Formats: sequence, C-alpha cells, structure tokens
Amino acid sequence: MTVQLLSDVTTNLDLQKLPQHIAVIMDGNGRWAKSKGLPRIEGHRRGANTLKEILRVCKDWGIKTLTAYAFSTENWGRPVTEVKFLMVLFERLLRKELTEMDEEGVCIKFIGDLSPLPESLQQEMYHSMEVTNNNKTIQFNVAINYGSRLEIVKACKAIAQKVQLGELSPEAIDENLISQYLYTCSSPDPDLLIRTSGEMRLSNFLLWQMAYTEIYVTETFWPDFNPSELKQALLSYQQRDRRFGKVS
Ligand code: FPP
Repeated sequence: MTVQLLSDVTTNLDLQKLPQHIAVIMDGNGRWAKSKGLPRIEGHRRGANTLKEILRVCKDWGIKTLTAYAFSTENWGRPVTEVKFLMVLFERLLRKELTEMDEEGVCIKFIGDLSPLPESLQQEMYHSMEVTNNNKTIQFNVAINYGSRLEIVKACKAIAQKVQLGELSPEAIDENLISQYLYTCSSPDPDLLIRTSGEMRLSNFLLWQMAYTEIYVTETFWPDFNPSELKQALLSYQQRDRRFGKVS
C-alpha cells in the first residue's frame, strides 16, 4: 500500500489511540458464497484473501497483535469435505505466504490443540512458528482447533499438577498466573473484538482474555470486510470510554 493510499484510508483516525491487539471472528464465509450462488469453500478461499489484506493493513497501521479465529473445536462437526478443504487451504496458504510474511516481520503463532490436525499441516505450522519466532513487526495468532473453555481446562490441569508436585502453592494462583498458562501467554489481552456477519456471540473464543475487550459487530460478511470497514471499527473503538469497571 502506498503512503498516499494509507493516509487516505486513515483520515480521521487517531493513530495514537489504536488498539494494541485486535481479535477477529471471521464469520459469514458460507453466507457470502451462498448469496453469490457459489460453493461454501469459495467463501473460505475469499475469506483467506481478506485475512491476508487485514493482516497487512494492521501491520501498516502499527497494530501490534492480530488474533484470528480460523477453526473452532466445534467446527469438526461440519461436512467432511468442508473440513478437508479448510485443512488443505490452511496448509497451502502457509506454504505460499510464509516467505513474504517472514520478510514483513510477521511473527506467527498457532493457538489451539494442533495434535488432531493432519500431520503435514502440523509440520508446516511448527515450521512457520520456528522461522518467524524472532519477528517483531506484528504478532499474528491464528486459532485453529481452538476452544476457550478447553484452553482454560488445560491451564487448570497444568496448574493443579504443579501444586500436586509441590512446585506451586495454591496461594500463588492469581489472574496473572492463569494468563501465563493460556495459549495467548505472550500477547496482551485484546482491546477490540471484531465479529463479521452480524452475530452477537463470543462462540467460545478467548473468554478469559476478553473480559474487558470492546466488541464491534458488522453485518458485512467476512469476505467483503476490507480496510475501510476496519477503519469504521477503529473509529467506533476510539469513541468508547474504556473504564475497566471503574468510574471515568
Ligand atoms: C466462518 O464462516 C469461517 C470459518 C469457520 C473459516 C475461517 C477460515 C478462513 C477465513 C480461512 C483463513 C485462513 C487461514 C490461513 C487462517 P462460516 O463458514 O461459519 O460462514 P456461515 O456462518 O455464513 O456459514
């Protein structure tokens, strides 16, 4: 994106008051495809392009972390052909985009239980995390086979084990410690959640981390979400009075 275009799109935005961390629930790929008489998988393909564009814009605007919900623990219940397509799409995208993302300073992290995913996909995931590990421009968390309740259960088990081994006292368990046992331990909590396609739900996404996150819902289907829609979300965010339970 050229400097000219960047300044056009960011007009009216307070670049000093941007969220540090944006989380996105990329909903509406299927409905987008249906509305155009296309197969659902075409919606996912277009959705992947949108994610690429939004990641680039977040990076250009100086947002430090983007977390995208790509596949939930519940999504295994979709038709087998759709699940297979998504797995192939994730793997193909990683292969195709890794070099460019690395050059742009993107640090990729997959959050979720990766163990049931196809072996070749897991290999690509671990490889991309290793290659980009030291990149600092933007942290890109991709939630795949992710469920927030399961993440919390996993953290509880790990903490309980430490207590059982005498390595941790129950008194030392506080909010900070629990955060350290979540997949997102290296990221601050999201400041802004964007959900596309009009649904008003959290869908088991980052339940612990989003205690004080501002929520923005747009009717737009994810494949049609674009930088100017992102700007609308940011303008809305900048008008919020974030009190974190206190009085302003
Ligand atoms: C929700 O729309 C979308 C998904 C479950 C898949 C999201 C995946 C992508 C956008 C591809 C991203 C690629 C990478 C590499 C992370 P839906 O299918 O639930 O839509 P619907 O509610 O209209 O049916």
